[in-house]
Formats: sequence, structure tokens, C-alpha cells
Amino acid sequence: SARRREAQSRHTQVLEAADVKYRRDLRTARGAIDYLKGRGLSGQIAARYGLGWAGSDRHGLASIFPDYDKPDFAALLVESGLVIQSEDGRRYDRFRERVMFPIRNARGHLVGFGGRVLGKGEPKYLNSPETPVFSKGSELYGLWEARQAIRNAGQVVVVEGYMDVVALAQMGVENAVATLGTATTTQHVQKLLRAADQIVFSFDGDAAGRRAAWRALQSCLPLLRDDIAIHFLFLPAEHDPDSYVREHGADAFREAMREAPSLSRFMLDEWARQHDLAQPEGRARCVHDAQPLMQAMPKIALRLQVQRELAGMVRLTPEELDTLLALEDEPSG
Ligand code: UTP
Ligand code: MN
Ligand code: MN
Ligand code: MN
Ligand code: MN
Repeated sequence: SARRREAQSRHTQVLEAADVKYRRDLRTARGAIDYLKGRGLSGQIAARYGLGWAGSDRHGLASIFPDYDKPDFAALLVESGLVIQSEDGRRYDRFRERVMFPIRNARGHLVGFGGRVLGKGEPKYLNSPETPVFSKGSELYGLWEARQAIRNAGQVVVVEGYMDVVALAQMGVENAVATLGTATTTQHVQKLLRAADQIVFSFDGDAAGRRAAWRALQSCLPLLRDDIAIHFLFLPAEHDPDSYVREHGADAFREAMREAPSLSRFMLDEWARQHDLAQPEGRARCVHDAQPLMQAMPKIALRLQVQRELAGMVRLTPEELDTLLALEDEPSG
């Protein structure tokens, strides 16, 4: 509605103004510049991703907003997530002493920020809260900046972190985006498939990364089509894409992407890993666990292919498995 667009544009305006300040303040923030250089980033990449710096001033934003203390405008700043109002009514900047990563939506509008502390410190990343223009469950960091590279490659790489996106771009892998510290949702996958018909998920090589990949797979299932390709790249456990690409180079990362298992391979391997297929009970449990995932898939050729492989794994004929998997489709009672 017009009212909603009006609210969005007011939010976008304050975010853009803060962004200008953060970027300007980075130019003279020695510690932040040294930090980014230490992580292998050039000024050119920092500029392309619009990185900034939020200094230590608790009221830094008051210096750029003349209406900072006017009630309506103060409420807007709080609602935008830039300013926090404590219970006693005092207000202060949310982001302080952090490297700022502006987050744009698919249309290029600024919708929020992530901010990283320079050293150790908690939380490591602080993000904008959910606001009328920002929802973590649907936005992808870097999608706007990477749009041309994604189009050119016909492929989008999905990673966990801000730094993974920026480090990959620094090394020449420019088609990466990140979820914002949340599980990959079906809304994310919808956005990804609007941008490219090939998706490579590359999560951190630890147990948490594997769990995140499994959740991402589940978010993909309802959207599967036979003309798209989804792969899951697992890096060595000690690495994330940032550390991997910096240690081994972009060619090694691209090679790892080429060898990444497909969605169906990952799913079947994971089922095999999670069950004792040498035992009848294990095979039965495998069918049981596979059923909701199979049912989440549209009736495409890939579903039949997976079903055929699963049947072999659990030592059933495709017909027997079909009967078992179809059971839940029948109206109960
Ligand atoms: P990681 O801890 O893997 O971050 O979290 P990273 O990008 O590798 O961090 P550094 O800078 O290299 O050490 C992955 C993502 O999870 C979210 C952020 O989006 C981060 O990029 N996250 C993580 C948070 O939102 N808050 C946190 O405190 C930590
Ligand atoms: Mn991690
Ligand atoms: Mn990481
Ligand atoms: Mn990292
Ligand atoms: Mn290594």
C-alpha cells in the first residue's frame, strides 16, 4: 500500500544517512582499516560492499540527524534498529566500535546492517533487529552486490557469513551471498532461484555447518524442479569459505564446487549415514525418516530417481517403497 511504501522510504532514508556516516568514518578509523587489511581485504572490495565503521560514541548518530531528539523522529530511529531505547528512556546507538556491513534487498534498497567487533567480544556480529523493512528469514547478504556476477555465472554460492561473501569476492569468486545467521528458509531459496538456476550451498566444515546444510536441503525440497541444480559443498572441518579461499585460492574453491555432491546425493548419503542399513530395523527407520522428505518434493522426475535409489538402499522393490511412501497421502479416518 501507499502507506507502507511511505513507511519503507522513511526507514530507507535514515538507514542510508547512517550508512554514509559509517562509510565516511571508516576512512579515518585506523584500527578498523588495519583489521580489514589483516583479513586480506582491499580498499576496492571494502568500497564495493560499502563497508563502514561505527565508532565508540554512544550518540554518534545525533551528529547527523538534526531531529534526533524530536519524539516522532526518535521513534523512527528506534524502530529502524539504529538506536536502542533503554527502559529508563535513554537512547544510544546500537552499533558501536564495529565494522559495518550494509545489507541491501534484491532491489538495492538498504534494509539493515551487520556489525563485527574488531577483536574478541560478544556478540561477534550484531545485526539489525527485525523491522518493517528487514526480515532475516528472507534477506540474503550480498545478493544486490553480486547480482551481475550471479547472472553471468548462472549460479549462486550460498555461505554462512558476511566475511565469507566479502573474502570470496576479494579472491574473484563474486557470486556469493550469505544467510544472516539464520537457517536457510524456503523464502531464501525462492529468492535464490529467482537469481539463478544453480545453487551451491557452502557451509562451514563443522558439525554445525552440516546441520545447517541439512536444514537448507529441507527448505529446498518443495521448490525442486528438474531444470535446476542444487549442490552442497563441504569444506574441511577447520575451514569456512573465507579461510579456505585465502589459504588454498579461488581455483581450489572452484574445483571443490565442481566436485560438490548434488542435493540427491547428499540426501541419500545422509540417510545411509544416519541409519544402520545392515539391520531390518535400521532400513525400516530409514524409510520412516525419508517419508516426510520425499513427500515434501513435488512429483518431478528427480523424486522418482531418488525413490528408486532409496528402494535399493532399504532392500525393497520400487513398488513396495511406493506403497509405503504413499500411505500418508491417503486421508486418515
Ligand atoms: P561465523 O561465526 O561462522 O562467522 O558465523 P564468520 O563470518 O566466520 O566470522 P569471522 O568474522 O570470520 O570470525 C556465521 C554468520 O552467523 C552470523 C553472522 O551472519 C555471521 O556472518 N552471526 C555469527 C551472528 O549473527 N552473530 C554472531 O555473534 C555470530
Ligand atoms: Mn560457524
Ligand atoms: Mn564462519
Ligand atoms: Mn570466518
Ligand atoms: Mn586447509
